[in-house]
Amino acid sequence: MTLQDQTGVAFRPAERIATLGVSEILQIGAKAAAMKRAGRPVIILGAGEPDFDTPEHVKQAAAEAMARGETKYTALDGTPALKAAIVEKFKRENGLDYTVAEITVATGAKQVLYNAMMATLDPGDEVIIPTPCWTSYFDIVRIAGGVPVAVPCDGAQGFRLQPEALAAAITPKTHWLMLNSPSNPTGAAYAEADYRPLLEVLRAHPQVWLMVDDMYEHICYEGFRFTTPAALEPRLKGRILTVNGVSKAYAMTGWRIGYAGGPEALIKAMAVVQSQSTSCPCSISQAAALAALTGPQDLLPERAADFQRRRDLVVAGLNAIPGITCRLPEGAFYTFADCSGLIGATTPEGGTIASDRDFCAWLLETAEVAMVPGAAFGLSPYFRISYATSEAELREALARITAACARLTRD
Ligand SMILES: Cc1ncc(COP(=O)(O)O)c(C=O)c1O
Repeated sequence: MTLQDQTGVAFRPAERIATLGVSEILQIGAKAAAMKRAGRPVIILGAGEPDFDTPEHVKQAAAEAMARGETKYTALDGTPALKAAIVEKFKRENGLDYTVAEITVATGAKQVLYNAMMATLDPGDEVIIPTPCWTSYFDIVRIAGGVPVAVPCDGAQGFRLQPEALAAAITPKTHWLMLNSPSNPTGAAYAEADYRPLLEVLRAHPQVWLMVDDMYEHICYEGFRFTTPAALEPRLKGRILTVNGVSKAYAMTGWRIGYAGGPEALIKAMAVVQSQSTSCPCSISQAAALAALTGPQDLLPERAADFQRRRDLVVAGLNAIPGITCRLPEGAFYTFADCSGLIGATTPEGGTIASDRDFCAWLLETAEVAMVPGAAFGLSPYFRISYATSEAELREALARITAACARLTRD
């Protein structure tokens, strides 16, 4: 693919990114924002970030770090103080014993994943990714030269990977399995009983490593007990990368701090990648993350309770719409609803809803509600709502979706 700009200069992107584009989530967000700027009252239920502010004591710690002059490069993959706090966090909250040498800090959990894939994948290495999944997994694997292997997990299985499906997907080229619990986009989470049989399968395949993305650990609801594989199966800990971060739990998406615990050799290899990309995470953000991990934690259950009320509101509202069914998520701040009952319907404008992409595009245009189609996450026909927004907005959005769907006709 060669692109020509107005001056006639040819641009040829590298093969590794030639087939990739900016994520559909960002594209929908940009379109909705443009509509808003044009004066249309769009409700955006697409964003993957909490709507509350970074806690005051965290901002204060950042200001103090700046005042102390902590504005220079730091140690490559995390300051000693932050790494020590992460060791302590894993011990306190997950019952995991990592040494400081087994900890890495990066510019967001996204960079942690990127470093891990760049550090380990050779061309053709396969990475098993249960879908629906966070869209970045596929493209990070591709950029690193690997081959993402999708294993579809439908709603009937609670969107969770089943051990038989995992076993069937493993080949001699499989290098990693990626798991995310609670999940973006489904909100589904793996309890101990869900993890155990998967870990048994992995025990029988020593070449397969496990990357677990625990980003939404602190947004879990009543009746669900969060757990993480390295704590459940110490015999596998030597080939597990436990990824986490401060973005979602502490409303710190813009500070860009993610971290992981894993075997020292892997952590060292990831540091090599980081040393030639960002050099180190932002010094001020690291001071802020340190305050988040070591400061008062009572905001975490408070926020989770808040999100749970919104989840209940959205799930009940969606299930009341004929043609839509929505499973009750165990965590995160997303619902992933099935809209198969609306596929084939005719819109008042005379169009046909042939897919979840059509449904979301039509809703954005006519009801001015922005949501992301399941296709963007690898499973159709579904749509994802991020309910990290006010209850008033959620109620208004549900009213608009309900009214819009009532105008659809089916033969
Ligand atoms: C499942 C999952 N993992 C990781 C991330 C990235 O987090 P960070 O902001 O730390 O890069 C996200 C962000 O949306 C996510 O949904």
